[in-house]
Amino acid sequence: MREIYRIKKVNIPVSKLEVGEVLPFNLLDSRERVLLKRGQVVTPEFMERIKEEGYSSFLAEIWEEDEELVAREDVSLETKKKTLENMQEILEDLSQGKSTSVVPLRHNVSQMAEEVKAHKELVIPLIQLKKHDDLTFTHSLNVAVISLFIAKFLGLKDEELANLGLGALLHDLGKLVIPPEILNKPSKLSEEEYEIIQKHPLFAKNILDEKTQLPEKVKEIPLQHHERIDGSGYLFHLTKKNISILSRIVAVADVYEALTSNRPYRKSLPIPEVIEYLMGNAGYKLDDKVVGAFIRHLSPYQVGDLIKLSTGEEAVVSRINPILPFRPIIRIKKRDEQGNAYLSLEIDLSYSLTLTIISEIDMKSRINL
Ligand SMILES: [Fe+2]
Repeated sequence: MREIYRIKKVNIPVSKLEVGEVLPFNLLDSRERVLLKRGQVVTPEFMERIKEEGYSSFLAEIWEEDEELVAREDVSLETKKKTLENMQEILEDLSQGKSTSVVPLRHNVSQMAEEVKAHKELVIPLIQLKKHDDLTFTHSLNVAVISLFIAKFLGLKDEELANLGLGALLHDLGKLVIPPEILNKPSKLSEEEYEIIQKHPLFAKNILDEKTQLPEKVKEIPLQHHERIDGSGYLFHLTKKNISILSRIVAVADVYEALTSNRPYRKSLPIPEVIEYLMGNAGYKLDDKVVGAFIRHLSPYQVGDLIKLSTGEEAVVSRINPILPFRPIIRIKKRDEQGNAYLSLEIDLSYSLTLTIISEIDMKSRINL
């Protein structure tokens, strides 16, 4: 449970105001006249004026809206849970060689697509997606959610979203028939082992052909998700024109999800490095339009996230800047003289460039694809 702090009525000394801060409340003088309104930025001219007029402190008129700081979900936990349950059932059936129905999973996917379409934020709150864990099921679920977001940004139709969501959920299905000792091997794979791993797209297609009634467009996704547009992928070295747009979307979501998660053979990478990787491969291995749609909407933070700053202080993300999502607007956790916790004024990190967010992710880990 995340702690939500509320500011009561506080006296603010002039020294606490900083140029570039966006005020989360009305700023009043001692006679309760409004000097700056909530949402306004503290400008150098304002600071000059208050200096000239000899102010030493202000009153802050708080609007108690801190509940807004509660994080919003990308797709509800309930939908995620149901999807995971149905996926587990389907994968169990298939691993026992039984035929299976994907009807329940179809319902889950349309529910997920609806929630993705209705999401108000301009940005994808991806840290939250990643927080769950690194299980294969969760990986597939995350890949499906990310893929649906990308498809939404690309303006794909509902029917395509439905096929995309299903294909993304099942993209690594072929790993079911790969022995876990190969799949989870922490050391380098032998050539034969690598060849087996590389066949998982084909294993998936064969299983789905035999045991389900899915449309080709869905089955193409597991088959093609490791193909790269320059022909350097596997299994058939297809080039862009022969890889479906849905598979190209899942390829980007899969790479992003894989690199930002811990694996037996490497630790997760910091998000900025993953973005560099995606951008470096856009137009070469990965579809540049897909990468572009994804990166333009990517935010590592979401409202309500607790972060640590370079000063050692803790802060809460209060708003996302859609132009610079890596520099959110934050409020620092403080204590007043009585020891009561409160949140500072909003600080816009796109102005306060000396203040940085410390990532807890190990910066030394390296890409190993
Ligand atoms: Fe895969």
